[in-house]
Amino acid sequence: MLELKGRKVHKTMEPETGLTILDHALKAEADWGFSCTRGTCARCRSLVTEGMELLAPPTEAEELRLEPEELERGFRLACQAKVKQAGTIVVLHRPYF
Ligand code: FES
Repeated sequence: MLELKGRKVHKTMEPETGLTILDHALKAEADWGFSCTRGTCARCRSLVTEGMELLAPPTEAEELRLEPEELERGFRLACQAKVKQAGTIVVLHRPYF
């Protein structure tokens, strides 16, 4: 189960491997702010509170855009973070502004 939570969003859906968190949010028509889809704007910044091990490791773009402490704390860029395995994943939309 993939749970997406934002200011005005609370959607639950089955995670699909190979799709990013943002792909899922768009599919669910969730109001998930984003802009570039290339890992540079960070409008899609999100906090993974459960199931990080079910996601592919951070991409090079995420490593460049996010601070090492953010990555350690579970922050990811939704346009980059791909589901690699089904299971329970909980993601909160947490842009900087
Ligand atoms: S949409 Fe720009 S970093 Fe994800």
